[in-house]
This record gives sequence, structure tokens and C-alpha cells, in this order.
Amino acid sequence: MHKIVVEDLTAGYGDEPVIENISFELRGPALVQILGPNGAGKTTLLKAILGLLHPMSGRVFINDEEVTGDPEKAGVYVGYLPQLFTTYFSKYPITAWELVESSLLMHKKKWPRLFVGVDDRKRIEEVLSTVGLSREAWKKNFWHLSGGQRQRVLLARALVHDPPILVMDEPFSAVDPAGRIDLVQVIAKLSETKLILSTCHDPELLLPYTDTIILLNRKLFKIGKPQDLLKIEEMKKIYGEAAILMQDHIHICDFHA
Ligand SMILES: Nc1ncnc2c1ncn2[C@@H]1O[C@H](COP(=O)(O)OP(=O)(O)OP(=O)(O)O)[C@@H](O)[C@H]1O
Ligand SMILES: [Mg+2]
Repeated sequence: MHKIVVEDLTAGYGDEPVIENISFELRGPALVQILGPNGAGKTTLLKAILGLLHPMSGRVFINDEEVTGDPEKAGVYVGYLPQLFTTYFSKYPITAWELVESSLLMHKKKWPRLFVGVDDRKRIEEVLSTVGLSREAWKKNFWHLSGGQRQRVLLARALVHDPPILVMDEPFSAVDPAGRIDLVQVIAKLSETKLILSTCHDPELLLPYTDTIILLNRKLFKIGKPQDLLKIEEMKKIYGEAAILMQDHIHICDFHA
């Protein structure tokens, strides 16, 4: 099953709500893009769906199970590619392979969890190939890889347990133009079998494969089909003057760091 239900969700930090009273239902397999400017609350919404951020009010259901504020429950169904992966263990030496392997082990239901079998190794090889990480990078220190290579490792990490739902926060950041085209194909293929929810500052990249668009700018929230929402008047409500019409095609000036 591929289903996310968000019910009257209000979420933020401290006493300050960032997003308010948001409700929607998504079913897949499908590709859903969340669009909105910096600070609009896109990452906040994703974190609330994943249970990483406890909402101030409202509920989240994934595949009909309530997962509100519970990342372990949500993690059974959802793979997560976070925005800018720089955590406190950024100096910890770990290879690309080990990062993917550790995710697979974490998701194993049966003991002994620490045993890596032939099937597990095959799965890791398969997923690293799927995301297009060249073989010579597999056993290198993750922190010595390029930004684009790291992004592929993190996608492999999110995918290794074959979740029905994939949440990606800025999957193309640090990926060069040729790599982007490559990654678009990977994501398009995955969207044939998974429900994918992704933020992106360049909506055109995934547009040909996008089933649903969510426009978000804090209290402004709209959900619909790309042909209904990717109109200059709708985009101006969300992006202001950064949305410009160029020869019948909308361009969002990318001021993102
Ligand atoms: N951990 C935090 N503590 C306090 N405020 C936060 C925290 N994370 C985000 N915020 C605030 O919440 C608001 C929304 O941030 P969020 O990261 O959800 O935006 P975004 O739409 O993902 O932006 P971007 O396009 O830059 O990734 C911002 O004003 C930000 O300053
Ligand atoms: Mg963000």
C-alpha cells in the first residue's frame, strides 16, 4: 500500500507554528512535488510526516497506521533522503557501503540483526547500482566523496529496505547537470512502484513525471495537478516576483544556497 494522510496538521518550533491546518491525502505509486520558497516550511512538513517533529496539533497516517510523532513507525514504510546531511558524526569515518549496510541492518526485523548474509550483500550492490554510484566509490570514505556522490549514497540508504514510500528533501542539491538528468531517470523509474514525495527548487526537472503538486508558503497551501497549479498567477502567490514567465514556461529564480 502507498498512502499518506495528513489531518489538520500544525507544526513548528517552540510555540511558533510554521505550517498551519494542513490536510491532504496522497496515494501511489505516484510522484508528488512540494514547491515553495526558502523558509516556506517544506522541510518542516516532511519532518512532521516522518514523525521526526511532533506536530502541535493534527495527525499523520501512513498506510492507515497512525505515525504522528513516531519516526520508528513511519520508518517501516518510508525511506528518507534528508536535506543537507551534515550531522555531528560528520567526522566519523564510514564508507559508502557501510552507510547503506547500516540502514539495511537497522530495518531487519529478525535477529541476528548484525549478520550480513549473501542476500544482504546482493541487495546493497543492487541499490548502489540503481542510484548510479560508480563501483570504485563503494568502499571509499563517505566524507571523501563529492557532494553528488554523497547524495546518491544517501538515496541508496533510503531505498535499501525497499520502502513503498520515499521522501526526498532537495534530492538534486550538489548534483551536477549531467548527474541531475541521470538522477531524474532513477527517480522516474522508482515512481512507477513507489509513492515519492519530494521537494525541489527546480520543479521542471521532475515535471514530466509529476502527478501532483503541493504549493506551500507557510499558511498558503494548495494541492492539485501540475497543469492546474503551475500557472504564473498561482506561482506568484507562493514565490512572489521570483516566479517569471519565459516564453510560455514558468521559471523560478533559484536563490537557494
Ligand atoms: N530546528 C529549528 N528550530 C527553529 N526554527 C526552525 C528550525 N528549523 C526550521 N526552522 C524555521 O522554520 C521555518 C521553515 O523552515 P523549513 O526548513 O521548513 O523551510 P523550507 O521550506 O524547507 O526552506 P528551504 O527551501 O530553505 O529548505 C524557517 O523560518 C526556519 O527558520
Ligand atoms: Mg528545506
